[in-house]
Formats: sequence, structure tokens, C-alpha cells
Amino acid sequence: MSRYSRILGTGSCLPPTVVGNDELAARLARDGIDTSDAWIVERTGIRQRYFADPGTSSVDLGEQAARRALDAAGLMATDVDLIICATSTPDMIFPSNAALIQGRLGASGSAVFDVQAVCAGFVYALAIADQFIRGGLARRALVIGAEVFSSILDFKDRTTCVLFGDGAGAVVLGASDAPGVLATALHGDGSQASILCTPGRVRDGAVSGTPFLHMDGQAVFKQAVHVLERVAREVLDKAGRSAADVDWMVPHQANIRIMLHTARKLGIPPERVVQTVAEHGNTSAASIPLALDVAVRSGQVRRGDTLLLEAVGGGLTWGAALLDY
Ligand code: UT7
Repeated sequence: MSRYSRILGTGSCLPPTVVGNDELAARLARDGIDTSDAWIVERTGIRQRYFADPGTSSVDLGEQAARRALDAAGLMATDVDLIICATSTPDMIFPSNAALIQGRLGASGSAVFDVQAVCAGFVYALAIADQFIRGGLARRALVIGAEVFSSILDFKDRTTCVLFGDGAGAVVLGASDAPGVLATALHGDGSQASILCTPGRVRDGAVSGTPFLHMDGQAVFKQAVHVLERVAREVLDKAGRSAADVDWMVPHQANIRIMLHTARKLGIPPERVVQTVAEHGNTSAASIPLALDVAVRSGQVRRGDTLLLEAVGGGLTWGAALLDY
């Protein structure tokens, strides 16, 4: 009998402050930086993003998302034996966000670690949790994506600061005799690290190098449209399914043009693509579980639907997962 993992519940959390494009453009204008709602919408599809206040961290957001996912699954934190948090904006150098969230949930005993695969982090974490469950190392896992990207944005760099937002999403994954996760695929290309990075590091009590996000947007765009289609086909092939079997594509929400281009190449109609980029902006590792939770709670995604998740991010890293929800 095959052993699978399947999603038992989803949850998410957004900080309370919404910043629309016009408001952001007005803030940047005070520093002589020129941008506009029209540019941001046309190039990215983003209309607003949520920013955490300085006192709110990715652990705060991740904890709330985790609690909501556990509630949706009808489980207690102590029912979980693995917690993975995907994040590039952790609260501390160590311990991990997963450990800090576990401490708050009062779930001591489970395995805890973070995954650092930037915007592909949630797909990486989901694939790892799936392997833990299939391999018998865990029965139930909390898989969280939590970010406060506003903390690493340079608000003097219009090419990046208009793109990102803060938030968290989570799923509870549990062992199941029926699928569940059908196939996953993960890839990376470290030779392209410099096109999307935050190179600062802590050394001798200070940050050496810039602690701000840097991106060559066009270079990442070109890679994204190439690798996302390929990795999506890879999981479909592995699972013996076709794009026609996909009820919902739940892509990383970086840019509506990339999301819809990939869907079109795969033959998935735009109305089958879960789209939250307009409301959330790019929340990196949080974007897929956030989008999934919105789609589940709004009734878009239903039990039995086949979902295609895909993401690309700094590293470069990229990956996809195909699952029956
Ligand atoms: O989440 C991880 C993965 N990340 C991604 O997938 C992001 C991939 N890249 C992208 O989504 C797009 O490349 C961007 C949205 C970042 C940029 O869109 P683009 O269509 O590639 O624009 P561009 O970089 O070619 O810039 C076009 C013009 C430039 O001006 P010139 O050289 O044509 O005069 C930029 O200086 O737009 C200018 N520009 C802006 N103008 C107004 C760049 N940022 C802004 C801005 N407001 N915020």
C-alpha cells in the first residue's frame, strides 16, 4: 500500500496595513523617486501590498497562519511531528523560525527547521515534508511560508520596492493512503545567484555588504518563463497527468505576466489560475500558501481538485508540485 501525504488544512495571515500603489508612489515621490500606479499595474499586475509594522516579524505572521491551518485541519499543535518554515526573512540568524513558532504553539518535540529557497521556498518545504511523511519520518507536518520582505527593501530602488509585500501562509500535511501530493520536482542554479540576492552578512557585530534586496528583473523574468513551464511539465509527466487534468494552477505570485504566460504555454486557461498578486504583491515564500488559503476559503478550490503549484526565486531556485487537494 502506497503511503502519501495530503493537505488537511490551510491558513494564512496578512499584517493589517494595506499600502496601495498610489500611496506608495506618493511616499517614494517625497524622496524624488518616480513611479506610478499605471506602471506597477501594467508591468506586474500588483495594485497593493501589505506591510508589517516594525514590531511585527515573520514568526508573528507565521504563527497566526499555522494556528489557522491547524484549526482548519481540526488538529492541535501537539498532533504535528514536523514543522518546516520557508523564509528568507527569519526573525533570528538562529534558531530557526520553525523552532520559534513551535515554541509559541507549545508543540515541543517535533522536528523543526527552516528552508531557505527564497520564492521557491514553500514548494521546497512542501516537497521535503512530503518525503518525510512518505518515508515514515513524520505523520503530520506544518509547512509554513512566512516573510517580511519590507524589512529588506530599499525604498530608494523603484525597480524592486514596488514589487514585494509581507504575509504568511501554512498547510498541515498528513499521512494518507490516497493522494495527496502526486509529484514534486526541485531545481537550482547557483551560477545565477547574483541576479536576485540580498548579499549582506553579519560580521563582527555589523552588517557587511548591503542588507537590501537586489534584482535584475529582466534576467529573472527570462529565466522564470523558461524554467516554470519546464518544471510544471516535469511534475505532470512524473504523475502521469496532463495539463487538462489541472483544476487550478496556484503559482508563485510575482508577476501576472509570468503567471499567465506559463499557464498559456501549458494550455491552462487564465480563469483556472489562482491570482492574488494584485492584492498581496510578491510575498516570496508566503505567496503560494497565501494564495491557496484564499482560494480554499473563497470556495474556488474544493476537495478533490488537482492543483499545480510552481515557483521560481533567488538562487536561482525553482520547483513545482502536483497534488490532489
Ligand atoms: O519572486 C522572485 C522572482 N521574481 C520575478 O519573477 C520578477 C521577474 N521580473 C519582473 O517581474 C519584471 O522584470 C519587473 C516587474 C521587475 C520589471 O518589468 P520589466 O517589464 O522587465 O521592466 P524593465 O526592467 O525592463 O524596465 C522598463 C522601464 C525602465 O526604464 P527605461 O530603461 O525603459 O527608460 C525602468 O527604469 O521601467 C523603468 N522602471 C520603472 N518605472 C516606473 C523600473 N521600475 C519602475 C517603477 N516605476 N517602479
